[in-house]
Amino acid sequence: MHFDLIVIGSGIAGLSTALAAAPRRVALITRGELARDGSSRWAQGGIAAAIGEGDSAGAHANDTLVAGNRLNDRDAVDALTRGAAAAVDWLAGCGVAFDRAGGHYALGREAAHSQHRIVHADGDATGAAVMRALGAAARAAAHIDTFEHHEAAALRRAGGRVVGVAARGPGGTLDLGADAVVLATGGIGALYRHTTNPDTADAGGLALALEAGAALSDMEFVQFHPTALRTRDGRSGQLPLLTEALRGAGAVLVNGAGKRFMRLIAREAELAPRDVVARGVWGELERGETVWLDAAGAVGAAFPERFPTVFASCMSEGIDPRREPMPVVPAQHYHMGGVRVDAQARTTVPGLYAVGEVACTGVHGANRLASNSLLEGLVFGGALGRRLGALAPLPRIAAAEVVGTRADIGAVGAEIAQTVRDLLWRHAGLVRDAHGLQQALRALQALSAQNTAERRRIAVAVELTAAALQRRDSVGAHYRSDSVQVRAG
Ligand code: SIN
Repeated sequence: MHFDLIVIGSGIAGLSTALAAAPRRVALITRGELARDGSSRWAQGGIAAAIGEGDSAGAHANDTLVAGNRLNDRDAVDALTRGAAAAVDWLAGCGVAFDRAGGHYALGREAAHSQHRIVHADGDATGAAVMRALGAAARAAAHIDTFEHHEAAALRRAGGRVVGVAARGPGGTLDLGADAVVLATGGIGALYRHTTNPDTADAGGLALALEAGAALSDMEFVQFHPTALRTRDGRSGQLPLLTEALRGAGAVLVNGAGKRFMRLIAREAELAPRDVVARGVWGELERGETVWLDAAGAVGAAFPERFPTVFASCMSEGIDPRREPMPVVPAQHYHMGGVRVDAQARTTVPGLYAVGEVACTGVHGANRLASNSLLEGLVFGGALGRRLGALAPLPRIAAAEVVGTRADIGAVGAEIAQTVRDLLWRHAGLVRDAHGLQQALRALQALSAQNTAERRRIAVAVELTAAALQRRDSVGAHYRSDSVQVRAG
């Protein structure tokens, strides 16, 4: 089967790309059901856009640069922040009913934003509302063929280009050909013990890119969210997110002794940059304390209406957040690094593109500003889809010339996956040092040598750990306890 383009992943970046590429024929490969298997539908915060009175794309850009410790790619930041208002309008046109106040979009404020500029839908269920609308649009789009319950197992290559995908599904492996292949596979949360990401965020796209010889960059920049709900069963993997908007609304962090420890760590206390708060929580837990997010006073009876997702998660754990504090742990949340792409979303391998969290455009620098991630998928996905949609078709490659189907990237067995998660959590997590990183690197290299079928996925963890070892200063989300921290003003 041949298509004009193949998009791997059906989160906001993949669907924005696929929809914008009309009328070119798109094959959309997704591991679960369309629009339901990525991180996008779990997003609670919203979408940042400088649409309020007195706000500007320039101010949004500046906040993005400060959060990213000015290691951001300036052109990418400008493209993102200037494209935000149109992207929100486009989503509204797709049927997303953003929450309103007094005839305008209600604009929330999150940590490190200088303005109220976060649009949201259904309170804290923005990601779900957006994905419902985009999923419906993709199902209705005549130019998109969706392959649900299929996983991209290998990239097919010919003449130095990526020319298709081998997709494993319930009926066996399908060979799909295309002029362009777009990775929109999301993040790496499943490589860590605690994460806010679903299990499908398992670095599969990075493993495919590595296998194809594409360059990765900024792998060490991993963001941790300060407040995931600590569940009664103490499980690893995806934990419910307690959105930052709760702290924006006045919720406070206390330890088991009832002390607001963040006041001693940062002037902005609970509204300090996300990495600072996450390390504050980590520090308390490392001292053997428990940590709680108390929103009873700040949100109280309004919980079910203002934060329906958080409310439901807490109630299912037997906690009533209207009256009780919520137990928290930090959790891996977002990867700023990824497959290196240029301003056109091209990887270093011809024919292979990347967009959304799997890609590293440099837009986030060393740390992502809250509510810039759905925006990234929308703005860069839409732009890539339009560009690919306008390209002239390439001459077809005869099947015999396709020589590049290399080995399947495979799946990592449960026991090894747990070992990788524990190694990264302990040594390449919120607080890192050379000794721990070296230890983790050696263990990962040994694992990958013994487990050849799984080495391609373990290789992503190796890349991340090696990059964290190499960057000896602390910057943004990358914190080395054996060095000083550099923070841009
Ligand atoms: C949150 O709601 O706290 C997360 C928002 C984000 O990561 O952008």
